Amino acid sequence: MAQLWCADQHARGLRVGLVPTMGALHEGHVSLVKRAAAETDRVCVSLFVNPLQFGEAQDFERYPRDFTADCDLLAEAGAHMAFTGSLDQFFPDRPGQVSEWEPSDFEDPGPFAEGLEGAFRPGHFEGVATIVRRLFEVCLPERAYFGAKDYQQTLVVRDLARRMGYPEVVVCPTLREASGLARSSRNELLNPEERSAGLFLSRALYAARGLWMLGERDPMAFEALMGSVLGQSPLEVEYATVRDPKAWTPGRPIPPLRQAVALIAARAGSVRLIDNMELDAGEGPAGAASRSLPGESDR
Ligand code: PAF
Repeated sequence: MAQLWCADQHARGLRVGLVPTMGALHEGHVSLVKRAAAETDRVCVSLFVNPLQFGEAQDFERYPRDFTADCDLLAEAGAHMAFTGSLDQFFPDRPGQVSEWEPSDFEDPGPFAEGLEGAFRPGHFEGVATIVRRLFEVCLPERAYFGAKDYQQTLVVRDLARRMGYPEVVVCPTLREASGLARSSRNELLNPEERSAGLFLSRALYAARGLWMLGERDPMAFEALMGSVLGQSPLEVEYATVRDPKAWTPGRPIPPLRQAVALIAARAGSVRLIDNMELDAGEGPAGAASRSLPGESDR
């Protein structure tokens, strides 16, 4: 159905913008849809909680879902079409149960999947790359829109699109609540204490940006500073580190840094949160991540 609809738009000479999502939409998704609506003729949104990219069954089961609310939000945001499907509808030639998939059934997510999310969530990017390839094949979009909050995912998807030869991948800035907390579907799962703990991610990132502005260029200094900020919280930190966005390495880059993105993953109770910030944003052309301070609007 989505395939026919997109083919019909192309036949009419219209450009399709795809916004892949897992539903439970928030302001961040709305900003992707609005950007797609401004830059393409028809905006198509996929809503699919992709079981291929979840390691823990429990995480998949409790991922928030509200299809009706999502469709209302999308209509308001200017989307033209939304679709979902089941695993066997997306992959009729593969087993209906993820547990029966062979490693060769998955797309190779490439070199940007190494380290950080790839290390802490084994198989995650294989699952992301597999569904994203299928969504691209179904919709044949001219452009596809992704949020910068999932920084490493944007690198994996850009690389996939380069290998496929389409679409143009557009990365949109992270939206933050006034508190600094990056908008995420998972925020719905936070209780008040976990939400307060979650604020330490952006605090640590803004502290890292402050250090960059003072001239620091040693990755270990950023790790130490972010570690000390996060250490004041009850968060269980998985990583708080920096990478060179132009030369991705699975491990810590060699100093001095020429450009840097700081990345954090931490658990607030049972909710896993990630966030990142380009430390040199504002100094060079077109930094992808958010640029404003908490409390300022980055919408
Ligand atoms: O970022 C997400 O919501 C998902 O990883 C994506 C890109 C929709 C693939 O399932």
